[in-house]
Amino acid sequence: MSKGEKKSLGLITGDEVQYHDGSAIIIPRGMTYDRAFEILEHMYRSQETIEELEPEIFPFRPNDVAVAVARVVQRRYGLSFGLGQRSLFAEEPPSFKSVPVSLTERVEVATGRIALPTLDNAEIRVGETLHPQYGLVGAVNCEMKRKDRSHVRELLKDIQEELRTNSIYKGKALRIVGNKAEPEFMDVDRFPTWDDIVYKAEARAALEGSVLIPLRKHERMAREGVPFRRSTLLAGPYGTGKTSFGQLAAREAVNCGVTAIFSDAGADINVLFQTARLYQPALVFIEDIDVYTSSGEDEKVSKFLDIFDGVHAKTAEVMVIMTTNHVERIHRGLLRPGRVDAVIEIDHLDRHGVEKLIRQTVGNALADDVDFDAIYEAMDAYTPAFIADAIKRAKVHAIGRSADDEEIKLTTEDLIGAAAQLRGQHNLMRRATEGQRKPSFERALSDVVAGAAAKAVNGAALRKGGGTDGPQIATVVIQNGEEVAV
Ligand SMILES: Nc1ncnc2c1ncn2[C@@H]1O[C@H](COP(=O)(O)OP(=O)(O)OP(=O)(O)O)[C@@H](O)[C@H]1O
Ligand SMILES: [Mg+2]
Repeated sequence: MSKGEKKSLGLITGDEVQYHDGSAIIIPRGMTYDRAFEILEHMYRSQETIEELEPEIFPFRPNDVAVAVARVVQRRYGLSFGLGQRSLFAEEPPSFKSVPVSLTERVEVATGRIALPTLDNAEIRVGETLHPQYGLVGAVNCEMKRKDRSHVRELLKDIQEELRTNSIYKGKALRIVGNKAEPEFMDVDRFPTWDDIVYKAEARAALEGSVLIPLRKHERMAREGVPFRRSTLLAGPYGTGKTSFGQLAAREAVNCGVTAIFSDAGADINVLFQTARLYQPALVFIEDIDVYTSSGEDEKVSKFLDIFDGVHAKTAEVMVIMTTNHVERIHRGLLRPGRVDAVIEIDHLDRHGVEKLIRQTVGNALADDVDFDAIYEAMDAYTPAFIADAIKRAKVHAIGRSADDEEIKLTTEDLIGAAAQLRGQHNLMRRATEGQRKPSFERALSDVVAGAAAKAVNGAALRKGGGTDGPQIATVVIQNGEEVAV
């Protein structure tokens, strides 16, 4: 609307009138000037009344919606300005927050009312609401004169389109932290590629078939009606490349427009799957799945399985990768077909794999006459993590031996020597137990109560130990000057 028009009363746009193409004013026979004037004035007044639209709920996280609103308002009007929050007695100054939109960039968004520059008395507010299926999502409230309703509806459509095509989260690598609804960004450029990791040929083929091909072909699969949703469990010892594969798959996912979502230790599994549904197609990576299903508490396990089954709903385009070092601790319920579609063993490398990993990692810096049989023997029973570490040490050794301008060449002896250095640590690790499981908070609390009871009965002292982080409280009762575990 131009400036000139804005000063006039505005066009008649309501449904209450009928238009015709001539220039004559047509009114019902018998109507008086007074009555016609009254009706037109009434229409004019009603177009000028301010009304509020039903809140528009967007199935996107609140920060995503706030950024889309800021971008659309900026694009449509060239500028946007925040208004203060109205309270009963005063108007507070406008407030803004800075929202991360990638690993390195942030966008300032207004947290209160936003004025729409070309519309008189129109404003929008971005808020959040609890969606039954997705948890916290963004909602937009709009207030404007009735005559500007359609303009504001267009604006809402633009916001919807902006979210559809330019969401800050969709197709990105994300991490869920605790039970926070807003995910954090992860740097896929630092994730490994096939130049960095090596698996046994069978394992690699299984990973390609179960995870990577469906990721690459997800659009084709959707067209052919093949479900994308599937779960793969990676099982194997420490340091064999399970986490590395999750990262490699995330890289692949992001390249193919699939959102990759990792769960940090302690991440809320519900928020994790809700976020995956919001930003599907999505790849979800859950480490140490046994921790979720081996608590022995039936209620917790069945709640987990319920949440897990939720992503198997027909419309869900969510692929799940889980890892475990202890396949025997996983609840049977999780392993039944329909919940886990493939279990892939990620294990030690064979002779061919060890050679491949060394050649791949060392490249040109490898001597020509390396004896891989001898090296394989020296690295007997080493997991890939140990082999990778031995290669690094061998490199350090070779660098130490070479002049600054001399090219380094890793020899059989460098690699065997480095492998030998790690043997002690390897033996220790093999003998080491799993360590003490962190007691849950309830368990720690009941320990304290038990300790207090013992104190009351035996007159013994009670003290806390085990560091400063709460749940690791260890309770010790001292009787006759000696510590007795509760
Ligand atoms: N298959 C592999 N190929 C190449 N390097 C590997 C492989 N597996 C492990 N590594 C090396 O070991 C490091 C740790 O690997 P990763 O975290 O992927 O193991 P993991 O199987 O997840 O171990 P954990 O069971 O302890 O979580 C990697 O950063 C990499 O340097
Ligand atoms: Mg791991």
